[in-house]
Amino acid sequence: MESEAHMAGGIEIAFEPLSSRARGGDLVVFVGDDLALSGTASESLGRPGAELVARAAASERFKGKSQTALSLPAPAGVEADRLVVIGLGSEKDRAKTDWTTLGGFTAGKVGARSARVLLDWPGFAGNARDVADFTLGARLRSYRFDQYKTKKKDEDETGTALTLLVADPAAAQAAAKDAAGVAEGVILARNLVNEPPNVLYPEEYARRVSELTRLGVEVEILDLARMKELGMGALLAVAQGSAREPRVAILRWNGADDATTPPLALIGKGVVFDSGGISIKSAGGMEDMKGDMGGSAAVVGTLHALASRKAKANVVGAIGIVENMPDGNSYRPSDIVTSLSGQTIEVINTDAEGRLVLADVLWHVQATYKPKAMIDLATLTGAIIVALGQDIAGLFSNDDELSARITAAGEAAGEKVWRMPLIPAFDKAIDSKFADMKNTGGRHGGAATAAAFLKRFVNDVPWAHLDIAGVGMSSTPSEINRSWGAGWGVRLLDRLVRDHYER
Ligand code: BES
Ligand code: MN
Ligand code: ZN
Repeated sequence: MESEAHMAGGIEIAFEPLSSRARGGDLVVFVGDDLALSGTASESLGRPGAELVARAAASERFKGKSQTALSLPAPAGVEADRLVVIGLGSEKDRAKTDWTTLGGFTAGKVGARSARVLLDWPGFAGNARDVADFTLGARLRSYRFDQYKTKKKDEDETGTALTLLVADPAAAQAAAKDAAGVAEGVILARNLVNEPPNVLYPEEYARRVSELTRLGVEVEILDLARMKELGMGALLAVAQGSAREPRVAILRWNGADDATTPPLALIGKGVVFDSGGISIKSAGGMEDMKGDMGGSAAVVGTLHALASRKAKANVVGAIGIVENMPDGNSYRPSDIVTSLSGQTIEVINTDAEGRLVLADVLWHVQATYKPKAMIDLATLTGAIIVALGQDIAGLFSNDDELSARITAAGEAAGEKVWRMPLIPAFDKAIDSKFADMKNTGGRHGGAATAAAFLKRFVNDVPWAHLDIAGVGMSSTPSEINRSWGAGWGVRLLDRLVRDHYER
């Protein structure tokens, strides 16, 4: 699929001790808003170098504020091409340094050059994990999705090589190896989201997922015949208008010492393209619906990350992969379908397809794997974008502890979630005149009635639903993502597993 370099973010990262006198490329140093250099930086730059920085800062009005930088030709006596001075802000700013963002920002400033990065500043408090987060940010920043551009490739190409000068290179190296696995997971998820649906149709998606067997992940693909045999009537209804057959992919990572430990289950919506079906969407922005498989991409990316860092946890990932299309054979509003759970669903709107796909996958997972907890991720509703915007995902859950854990993991990983209510009124809104339930709950509380629908398919398992319609893809570039697909969720889930489900 991807070359190794592409998978790791197209950047090479090495470590050397702070005292290293390695030469060549750019030299990157960090300063606070007092512009004071660390001891190692002053030593590297020498007195004339330090004076040059002070003069350049004054003439460029560089105040050392966080996320600002100053580039100058390397001073005499410093064997480097350029000197890049990166601001970290006040002492308070420095105390809460976001290492992933800083890594992304730094990689962006270095661009397509190579650099030695002196990770040291007055009051520096970074440990190996922080340095690893820095490398994660640098790798994610350097990701591009431009393989379909035959002429002009995306600009602002980043880093061929970064050498990080740190206090403890061996510890940083070890932590960074895990972080590289996480970066690969995010990049895999971004690749899947960015791929067009004529390339990434369900069967091809399943084939790519199967490549995770290389890492020791067990992969099972349910084909059309098997899904019919099981009775996945809700998922199959969505798929029936498409010329492409649906698939369900089940990934198992059994890293726990005790093989009988009940797994954490991750479930993802994998609608490779959502036209809306017979309830067809309007043309404006419909191309974004190639990203309607972002939830499933996060699940696949997370399994990649866990397997590459050999996480000591049992995790099962399950994704429903379908295409939602209008056709003579499409399902239609007023159809009544029987889900795998046996519950019947009246279809009001064929564009509310994600919940139908998830209903059968959720039911299958709780019945088959008896998970400790289930978390589903889905680009489920436009309503969550109205409610929360594009920087924070909606969280719905039947379990306060699971909810708190996810919220904390999101905070720590820089992928924020906000808990939304699940009250009986939302459940009541999806009662149907003709069947056990209907697939939409009317105009009000759209994200919540969608969650209430899913809740009917989780039985008694502690469960959380992340509506990632707002965060899954974004056209506003960030310090750690210059592409459209965000790969949102991989970092949060990896963190959650690390903090609560290992050993
Ligand atoms: N995939 C969409 C939700 C979506 C919208 C994701 C925008 C990302 C960006 C989902 O299948 C959908 O169409 N939801 C409908 C539900 C409605 C028909 C009840 C929606 O939100 O309008
Ligand atoms: Mn839809
Ligand atoms: Zn959809």
